[in-house]
Amino acid sequence: MTNALEVSDLHVTIAGSHVLQGVSIEVPVGGVTALLGRNGVGKTTTLRALLGLVASTGAISVLGTDVRGWSTHRIVRLGVGYVPEDRDVFAGLTVAENLRLAEQVDEPRYDDVYAIFPELRERTRQRAGTLSGGQQQMVSIARALLNGWPLLLVDEPSKGLAPRLVSELADALERVATLATVLLVEQNLAVVRRLAQRIVVLDHGEVVHTGDARELHDPDLAKRFLGVTGVR
Ligand SMILES: Nc1ncnc2c1ncn2[C@@H]1O[C@H](COP(=O)(O)OP(=O)(O)O)[C@@H](O)[C@H]1O
Ligand SMILES: [Mg+2]
Repeated sequence: MTNALEVSDLHVTIAGSHVLQGVSIEVPVGGVTALLGRNGVGKTTTLRALLGLVASTGAISVLGTDVRGWSTHRIVRLGVGYVPEDRDVFAGLTVAENLRLAEQVDEPRYDDVYAIFPELRERTRQRAGTLSGGQQQMVSIARALLNGWPLLLVDEPSKGLAPRLVSELADALERVATLATVLLVEQNLAVVRRLAQRIVVLDHGEVVHTGDARELHDPDLAKRFLGVTGVR
């Protein structure tokens, strides 16, 4: 298996709107592939379609297995962790309880989780709802990491975090990427530049560019690919 993920001609229609219009993506095993594009172009929908959370047509191969028509549960069990865009921690449960609920294997990798997020070990008994946004993001990533899955889908982890926390998060994700192949949706150019080896750019439900992440060092290209402000 050379690709952790292969998606070909993926189409998704939501509420009568043709959100994904033939998306094809290959994610090689190892490292970070960044999925880029402006708000509303279909990045989250792509991840959700890969997980079988929204209906799609097209071919999807996950970790070498054709998963067309599979339930989300079966796809996840192949070895896919998901860090959703809104973090989605259980506010009323403690950190330890949030993690325990995410366990899907007999021997969860708490050693990896606490090596990357030592702060969580100190907060196991704290309710997740009382954590900062950055700490909640740690819990969300830790839940995906816990099962030792080979593939992680991570949706805009830096969204809404203060700059200092964004760089801490990038440190953590760098370590996560040594343990699993990561498909990362991210709008923060500094984070993408730091973590990604490859980029896939979506626009209006289509892939408009696939290339080497080093292309992002060119400010004009970066601006075009991300369509965001704050590009230096
Ligand atoms: N559940 C939904 N109901 C209606 N429209 C949706 C839904 N999910 C996504 N969309 C639409 O699909 C498009 C792509 O959304 P999304 O994949 O969330 O974009 P991105 O993650 O790139 O910001 C947007 O126009 C959005 O409004
Ligand atoms: Mg999104």
